[in-house]
Amino acid sequence: MIVKNNNTFHLMGRNVSYIMAVDEAGNLLHVHYGKKLRDKDYSKLKKGWTDWAAYADDNRTLEICRQEYPSYGHTDLRHPAYIVNNAESNNVNQLKYKSYEIKGNYAPKIDGMPSLFAGDRSVQTLEITLKDDITGLEAVLLYTVFDEYNVILRSTVLRNVSDGFMAVESAYSASIDIAKGDYDLIYFSGSWARERELFRQPVLQGLKTDISNARGGSGHCINPFIMLAEHDANEERGGVYGFSLVYSGNHSSMVECDQFGNIRVQQGINPFGFMWTLDKGESFQTPQCVLCYSENGIGGLSRELNDVYRSNLCRSKWAHTERPILINNWEATYFDFNEDKLVAIAEKAKEVGIELFVLDDGWFGKRNDDTRGLGDWFVNKKKLPSGIDGLAEKINDIGLKFGIWIEPEMVNPDSDLYREHPDWAIQIPGREPSLSRNQLILDLSRQEVCDYIIKAISDVLSGANIGYVKWDMNRPMTDMPFVGYNHEYTLGFYKIMDAITGAFPDVLFEGCSGGGGRFDAGVLAYMPQIWTSDNSDAVARLRIQYSTSMGYPVSAISAHVTAVPNHQNGRITPLKTRADVAYAGVFGYELDITKMNDDELEEVKQQIARCKELRGLMLSGDFYRLKNPYETNYCAWEMSAKDGSEAFLMACRILSVASTAEEKLRLKGLDPSSDYIDTETGNIYGGDELMHCGIEPPYAKCDFSTVIMRLKRM
Ligand code: GLA
Repeated sequence: MIVKNNNTFHLMGRNVSYIMAVDEAGNLLHVHYGKKLRDKDYSKLKKGWTDWAAYADDNRTLEICRQEYPSYGHTDLRHPAYIVNNAESNNVNQLKYKSYEIKGNYAPKIDGMPSLFAGDRSVQTLEITLKDDITGLEAVLLYTVFDEYNVILRSTVLRNVSDGFMAVESAYSASIDIAKGDYDLIYFSGSWARERELFRQPVLQGLKTDISNARGGSGHCINPFIMLAEHDANEERGGVYGFSLVYSGNHSSMVECDQFGNIRVQQGINPFGFMWTLDKGESFQTPQCVLCYSENGIGGLSRELNDVYRSNLCRSKWAHTERPILINNWEATYFDFNEDKLVAIAEKAKEVGIELFVLDDGWFGKRNDDTRGLGDWFVNKKKLPSGIDGLAEKINDIGLKFGIWIEPEMVNPDSDLYREHPDWAIQIPGREPSLSRNQLILDLSRQEVCDYIIKAISDVLSGANIGYVKWDMNRPMTDMPFVGYNHEYTLGFYKIMDAITGAFPDVLFEGCSGGGGRFDAGVLAYMPQIWTSDNSDAVARLRIQYSTSMGYPVSAISAHVTAVPNHQNGRITPLKTRADVAYAGVFGYELDITKMNDDELEEVKQQIARCKELRGLMLSGDFYRLKNPYETNYCAWEMSAKDGSEAFLMACRILSVASTAEEKLRLKGLDPSSDYIDTETGNIYGGDELMHCGIEPPYAKCDFSTVIMRLKRM
């Protein structure tokens, strides 16, 4: 609900309030974002006066005011929400309140970019227009609130209503001034095969942190999701703010703690390498930023975001449909396969209950290694004489669905496509472009290139019975031909996504980028699951999946059981451990199943049967993190049904320790007055016992030991 009370705007979600007010000078000030407050007139604020460094003769300065979309260069010299150069060659703007509009039952679409949708939820949007009468810059701030959620969606439109030319150097989607307090910044960094490692550090006065990425996609290294948590907040308790950008290009999350201890958080497109020119009458819209607040710790925030993303971000009908258990041939064969080998894998997979066979890289053009063929989206008949349609038919005849890998945004210089259209790859005339994995990126800022990709991929998808697509993007972006290019590229990517996912609504799309290099809410809007990391070692995955689940639903986290020694880090873990960890995700296998012995196949059969019973819970349940592998020798998590009828627990002791007492694990989300049976062991427990007394998992005497419990209410 949105209420205007004199000069106060009050957005109310389920348990949150977001309040702002216009002061008598026309500044749009921030009043409160956090726990829900009663509605009243909040416009008689502390004025923001100071006798230190005041700029006006009435001692007024914006430097100490909490603002909604702060400008630089007038009476606030902190990090601004935007920088727009004007025709007079300065970038000083002063945005003042002009008007507002409240739109009921309306969640705005974002210009050329994905966004959350209303669905069947009650949702309202507030549009506040600010203007600088001198420069002619107008900003429309969009705020959307769902009655049932604790999220506020923000986006900003900058419009040139002057007679001259303007250049947007930076435009954050949201800027929020949080009242002085002891906060920690939580963010996710890492690398290829080590995606989204968890970092937590205190926000210190004077500290300026730019958590950004300028590598082309949202990136392996820094994720466009951050949290600001009260210093003593943990998984269960404490106030936590989340900021998540619905965007897949270069991004920046900025945290500034000013000289007085006030904290400013901003999130949006990375200003580094960005520039957008606005002729008279033109406007620019930022991507959407999802702000989420929880008073129930990091866990509360994650569960809220899970619900919001599953229901109001993922457009695919697969968002709420049980995902098929797949087998992917990549780590089984790499490029070295033929039809017989693939069919043999599919046959064995069928025997154990697998439902989908995915043909990974190497099926097209002259693609026998990663040096050639990208861009040539027609089958390599030498490898697959029956074609993709013929192979799909054979796989379907075995009783499996058929899926395929593609990397449509890329081209190898050694490809027919490049030979025909060398200018379609991103490059700067006269300069040798940098290759990465022997490939170049296609120029998605050009309509004809997008059209080619849409046609080529649509032909592949309509040419055979293809039920699943793994959409990869395997290199960072270099050689950008002009400043601001990355955003143009990202818009092209979304244009292609709109066209292809729209034309093939039955296909299950999985995002991928050299593992988990483009794991963001923008991708999630189109593809309900994303390959989380090329590193599928169970121990590495404990950390990767634990931290990824803080910002993204487990139904988006693709997790495969692979062979040992693990291909990425050489670790040998039990088959049981690999599956136990992968259950908290979209489960699959990526190994040569034809090489497994009978005992292993029997174990796999049981794992698949178990997963088929669990996967519904993953789509609709709540996820609780119980033990943090970044801080302890343990990792534990639990998925429980919202009505407390069932739960799944996974607990891992990473390294074996002799002569030690195990800490108790206390479960969550159960009904304390009911009894539960663990269908793994037949043991019966009280819900109250599991939640308040806890259990000591009976770890085996070895490294990487996992214990699982499948609890059903009796
Ligand atoms: C990327 C993906 C892998 C695999 C290869 C194929 O690295 O992350 O899973 O698909 O590409 O080249």
